[in-house]
Amino acid sequence: MSRPESFADRLIRWQEKHGRHDLPWQRTRDAYRIWLSEIMLQQTQVATVIPYYQRFLQRFPDVAALAAAPVGKVLEAWAGLGYYARARNLHRCARAIVAEHAGQFPRNPTQLAELPGIGRSTAAAIDIFAFGIHAAILDGNVKRVLARCFGVEGFPGSAQVERTLWQLSESLLPSSSIETYTQALMDLGATVCTRANPSCSDCPLQASCVARRDGRQAELPTAKPGKVRPERESRVLVLTDGRRVLLERRPPAGIWGGLLTLPELGGEDASEFARRHGFRLRKLRELPALRHDFSHFRLTLRPCLYQLEAAVGRVGEPGWEWLAMDEIDSAALPAPILRILRQVV
Ligand code: ADE
Ligand code: SF4
Repeated sequence: MSRPESFADRLIRWQEKHGRHDLPWQRTRDAYRIWLSEIMLQQTQVATVIPYYQRFLQRFPDVAALAAAPVGKVLEAWAGLGYYARARNLHRCARAIVAEHAGQFPRNPTQLAELPGIGRSTAAAIDIFAFGIHAAILDGNVKRVLARCFGVEGFPGSAQVERTLWQLSESLLPSSSIETYTQALMDLGATVCTRANPSCSDCPLQASCVARRDGRQAELPTAKPGKVRPERESRVLVLTDGRRVLLERRPPAGIWGGLLTLPELGGEDASEFARRHGFRLRKLRELPALRHDFSHFRLTLRPCLYQLEAAVGRVGEPGWEWLAMDEIDSAALPAPILRILRQVV
């Protein structure tokens, strides 16, 4: 009798038939392109990443071009993708590769993981796809697949469970076809073993999966204990003179650091704000509130549209920019701010 097909073999066979083969960062061995894709994909879905990825590569075709650019230009190209620390780390990492590694990505996941923005799993993924190096990955999708398939209990973000999952991931590696296997794990997690309603009947692991056997797909992986994201609200001013809109550049550190946003009213009402800055305005209408999830809190933006009536003094402060309404799509705006502005142009 033949041996039952291994975990890795089943995934590799599935990948060849059902996995994704035409993503723009596949079919290349260029470590720069692979690194960029892995950083963009850390917290953002494939469909959102693709146009950003292509535009980014046009602006910064290689690691030297990226390292030579000012960080503001990098943030501009990243605007809308969210988690902007990724863009700042990307830039720092490019500079470190040029300055400390002669412009070459280290072919060693441990060394790669010492660079800014590259964790253990991302380092492994880059070295697998760029150099065919034999290494294990463990991103959020892989944690979910392994926790379900092998019935690993406990919150995967805890150090102990994470250690178990890393050991498991390492123990399952195939002796060949590491690239196809790794892509299979990623694709299975993204398309079949999804967070909600996994398609178990399409899954190559269904015959041995513990979660499926026990009907516990919704309970595994175990949720973070007591997780509640704090809620914040921010009232923002959409002030237009008919042709332009008032924006404010955020300080370099923190949420949306360095990007343009709508001015926040804080505790003031709009007329106090206007008086303080020396102009008169007229309220046009409230705009629909918009929710946005950050990693540590959820923000509700409450925008209100105003017309600039008269400028008594200068209508300008350090950090303020009047942006032409027909230029909002090309400005460095966070996605929720762009969504608000699209309602008024
Ligand atoms: N998510 C993280 N890395 C990925 C990759 N290389 N392809 C598709 N999705 C991914
Ligand atoms: Fe995930 Fe279902 Fe496959 Fe198990 S059988 S790994 S729960 S998709």
